[in-house]
Amino acid sequence: MAIRFEDIKEHIGSRVVWDDREDIFTPEAAAAIRAKVEERTVVVFPEINLTDAEQLAITDAMGGTVKLTARNNVQQNDDNVYQVTLDEKINPQPEYVLGTFFWHMDGITVDMPPPFATLLSCRIAPAIGGETEFASTYAAYEGLPEEEKQALEGLRAVHSVRASLSPIADAIPEKHRERVLGIGLIKEHPLVWTHESGRKSMVIGTTADHIVGMEVPAGRAMLIRLQEWAAQPAFSLRHKWTKGDFVIWDNTGAMHRAIPYDKSTGRMMHRTSIAGTEAVAA
Ligand SMILES: [Fe+2]
Repeated sequence: MAIRFEDIKEHIGSRVVWDDREDIFTPEAAAAIRAKVEERTVVVFPEINLTDAEQLAITDAMGGTVKLTARNNVQQNDDNVYQVTLDEKINPQPEYVLGTFFWHMDGITVDMPPPFATLLSCRIAPAIGGETEFASTYAAYEGLPEEEKQALEGLRAVHSVRASLSPIADAIPEKHRERVLGIGLIKEHPLVWTHESGRKSMVIGTTADHIVGMEVPAGRAMLIRLQEWAAQPAFSLRHKWTKGDFVIWDNTGAMHRAIPYDKSTGRMMHRTSIAGTEAVAA
């Protein structure tokens, strides 16, 4: 039997239904899931309880694994899987995880095409907080009034790690602060990404620091307004995690963030990324 999909909301989200768990791992399923991620932005596999090996097999079958974040050598699992946790025994630099409390796209300041998709398996679900929210920047762009779409044409934004970590800068120990904030490249991207498919999404989130050629306050205000527009309920989805849930989302057409949680919850997610094939283009 083939896998099936059910829509979650009008503009975003599909849930996968299967009869036999093995149906998830066929080449046909990988192609169908990839197409569904492109179409619906977020695809949820409720309580499928993947092993790391299974998650990597799906990641590879859908386009190939890419390592996005340098792993800490204290991490305890497969080398290609990043453990998202605030537990300092496993992740001695929790700043990047704290940074995920704010809307962002993965890998947007790295010097390669942004990853096509991010895949998360929930190993420990927090009782309070820690949901992940997704906002479709395809749907958000599509929903803009025509004159606003035209106003965005040709605009470019400067993205940096420093901008994405500025909301949590005070939480970084002072002796590490300048080093941490200085990590990573500064990248300029068009605000509107015209994909090879012809569809358009927006490249926004906390990495976006300012708009080229615009007064900084006005540019920042525009970037924040666009974030708020994309995050409205019509274009966004909140996923409350149950242990074993597995979610794949289109990182090239969505922002995401975690609802704040405390490290005492033990929240643990295993993350892989699918290599991107398209650079951001106007
Ligand atoms: Fe992320």
